[in-house]
Amino acid sequence: MMKKSSVDKEGIEEDRIEVQLMEEHKEETSSDCDSIVEGLIGCTTTTTTTSCTRKNNEHVLEQGARFSESVLWDMMRRFYADQGVDAWSLGIVPHFITCNAFIARSYAKILQSYLSDLHAKGAVDPSEPVYIVELGVGSGKFSFLLLKALVERMEAMYGDDPPVRFKYVLTDFCETPFAFWRKHPALQRYLNAGLLDFAKFDACQDDAIRLEMCGSVVRNMANPPIVVANYLFDTLPADAYRVKDGVLSHGLLTVKTATVERDRTDPAILNRFSPHWEWDPVSLAGRSERSKDQQDEQAQQQQEQRQNNPESTPDETDSICHEILAWYAAHFGKTDASFLLPTQSLRCLDRLRSLSRTGRLMVLSGDKGQSTTISLRQNGLCDPHIAVHGSFSLMVNYHAIGLWFQAHGGFALHCPLEDASLKVSAFVIETPSPVDSPLDTTSWNCFGEAAPALTRPFAGLRLAFAETVGDFGPDHFFQLQQRELADCAASQDESLVRAVVALLQLSDWDADLVFKYREVLLNNLGVCNVRLLNDLRRGMERAWENYFFLEREKDFAFELGRFYYGLQEYQRALVFYSKSSDLVGKHHVTEHNIGLCHASLGNRQAALDRFDSCLRLNPTYVKASEQRAKLLPRSPCLTPTRRDLIEKERIAKSPQNSRHVRISFDPEVIERAKTPQASTPLSRCSTVRDISRGEELL
Ligand SMILES: C[S@@+](CC[C@H](N)C(=O)[O-])C[C@H]1O[C@@H](n2cnc3c(N)ncnc32)[C@H](O)[C@@H]1O
Repeated sequence: MMKKSSVDKEGIEEDRIEVQLMEEHKEETSSDCDSIVEGLIGCTTTTTTTSCTRKNNEHVLEQGARFSESVLWDMMRRFYADQGVDAWSLGIVPHFITCNAFIARSYAKILQSYLSDLHAKGAVDPSEPVYIVELGVGSGKFSFLLLKALVERMEAMYGDDPPVRFKYVLTDFCETPFAFWRKHPALQRYLNAGLLDFAKFDACQDDAIRLEMCGSVVRNMANPPIVVANYLFDTLPADAYRVKDGVLSHGLLTVKTATVERDRTDPAILNRFSPHWEWDPVSLAGRSERSKDQQDEQAQQQQEQRQNNPESTPDETDSICHEILAWYAAHFGKTDASFLLPTQSLRCLDRLRSLSRTGRLMVLSGDKGQSTTISLRQNGLCDPHIAVHGSFSLMVNYHAIGLWFQAHGGFALHCPLEDASLKVSAFVIETPSPVDSPLDTTSWNCFGEAAPALTRPFAGLRLAFAETVGDFGPDHFFQLQQRELADCAASQDESLVRAVVALLQLSDWDADLVFKYREVLLNNLGVCNVRLLNDLRRGMERAWENYFFLEREKDFAFELGRFYYGLQEYQRALVFYSKSSDLVGKHHVTEHNIGLCHASLGNRQAALDRFDSCLRLNPTYVKASEQRAKLLPRSPCLTPTRRDLIEKERIAKSPQNSRHVRISFDPEVIERAKTPQASTPLSRCSTVRDISRGEELL
């Protein structure tokens, strides 16, 4: 979402596009069941068709496909492969909610607590690092923030010699983001310290992690792998189910479009297709109802199926999925309910679990989803809602993932909030159930809560999770920052700055959030006392540390330049203007502002050079011509005459002006106020206070 900036300030041209930072979270509403019933006319077949056929003036792109095998997933994969990092740098995929300093710090606290718990119970082999594998990384912004926060936390806890070493691995299934990560300045120090590596990993099929930097393949790990997955499980193939009148059915999807599609996996189809669902009853016999021989035979068949076709989707015949479905069918009974089974996510977790020698695993994941059966029941009989936003996403059934962990002898910690847009869950398998032990589903419940005995050894993790997700979590933070404190930007108000500072402090000075509130801060600096200004300075430096260059339109270094210019700390302003030029290239406004810094520092020639450079980039930029003229020998004398000064003093002391004190950090206003021809309407009725020197200029 982009909007034109309406303010013409020095440093922000009217024609520069301002990116609205805080995208909406992925919207999620129930689908409209009526419209889907209408769409079913003419669709009765339950076998998948792979060619385009025409029915009732609509073109059937695919008919009666098992959802997890639908052509829609191919479109999704192509979308990410084609877009690469542009999906985030151009704001096509919403990401603030999962890519900010607040959520990163929360995750760091959870992961550090888990590592400390493992260490406390002697469950870490110090000869190997613990691998933290982030799946479906995308831009790398969240990865950087989490890695940074975790390193800071581990250092604060253990100094230079942590008892648990870790390596963070960025992965994605498509090649495109790798080139971006490899050369990203924010990641270099972690690469150099050996704390970071990259691996191409397709969650739908890969079973090995090949580290790009150190060249080794991660397998047979002594320590449990930690998997971080934000907004990934909602993009991996899932299957749709519903329980109606006590009967479990699975959904078969027909995809229709208004025109003939020549390229059937073109991601653009996602914006124009219509889904139509049919429901086929599923017959289930619980594991307990089958003999040991039948179970073994089934396990054997599944293994063969996977070997023959690693990409095939596990279905009701897959042993644990089967048990989960049987449990849901019994649990919902005669009550209508609809849910997704994250089949490919579960299979991916199974493969990652097998990388650990003993089948241990920890997963930390944030997504839109449900973690109780109460919300699944609230769905009633509803078709899956496919939310399209460039690609598409679904609700994640975290409750089912939790049951899968319980089936393996593990436990789940879920976000207790029902209404959260972003649910965070943690899952642990520490003592895996023996493979041939009977599955006991009697402890499974609607909240997916684990038996206390299982979680007791992870008291640190439990507490950290409760504090950082339950008490005040990433979703709370997201909701809070969405309220526009910036609405009050027009008023000059120290308490407004304090409120913004409090929010920024809560966010750990997230750079995107600072960018959002930059105008409020700049416009109000003049009313801040010295202590508040010092807090702001510290915060801005922290925000710069947390900055991950991604969107060219959000020139954060430039904004920090303006901030320091406002404080008349010209050398520091120059540092940031120069970083801005390095990151986004030379811009005429940046050159102009560098010129102003040099002029204020008394570097006349350097200032002239920059104004010239600005005019070369934009010959019509009047402000640079004016500034340049002031510095040239033929320009009017800059020193005010005695008569000017007496006149200024008279105006400043006049009663009406004492009520119109204007405090500005706008370089234009300050510069204009310094000149003798300050008889413009603006400066005649204004006092411009140079706060860092404490002097008042007319
Ligand atoms: C919605 S984005 C989430 C990105 C990031 N985690 C975030 O929170 O902003 C989904 C990511 O998953 C990746 N992805 C999609 N299918 C995948 C698969 N089969 N295996 C691994 N990554 C996949 C995409 O390339 C993309 O980077």
